[in-house]
Amino acid sequence: MSKVHVLMVCLGNICRSPTAQGIFEHRVRERGLDDWIEVDSAGTSGWHIGEPPDPRSIRAARERGFDLSGQRGRQVTEQDFDRFDYVLAMDFQNLQALRALCPQNYGGYLGRLLDFSSDKRRQDVPDPYHGGSAGFELVLDLIEDACEGLLQHILERRPA
Ligand code: 4NP
Repeated sequence: MSKVHVLMVCLGNICRSPTAQGIFEHRVRERGLDDWIEVDSAGTSGWHIGEPPDPRSIRAARERGFDLSGQRGRQVTEQDFDRFDYVLAMDFQNLQALRALCPQNYGGYLGRLLDFSSDKRRQDVPDPYHGGSAGFELVLDLIEDACEGLLQHILERRPA
């Protein structure tokens, strides 16, 4: 069975998309699907290349049992569209940047992670970088919920 590759994308690749990668990887692993689904993350900016996630993100995620500490920042490239079946932006600004980079013939899914959320009123994961700890908790709440929906979506399309 061919693998499914999922890329989570935000602006800095130190807060939201590492959180999304860490949570989705955790869910995939606990269901024994890690031979089939691979997860990565990147930023639309190159501001934090090679850096670990923001300590506030690492701490907030760790309190819910998710380990982000091994991740390092990188910038999304056009070549990512060759590799990834799902390219999932955290907000509309990220999505616009990805649309500008995306080849016209891209056959995968380019959209927002919250397309898979159970709460259709929210489309964006708000950037927590300049705010307080409540922002990091909201990021976790929104991403945990949407990752469940994303996993169900992928499982429904699993080849027999
Ligand atoms: P992220 O958050 O896009 O969720 O990683 C940010 C991280 C850093 C900056 C902005 C947003 N920054 O301005 O450096």
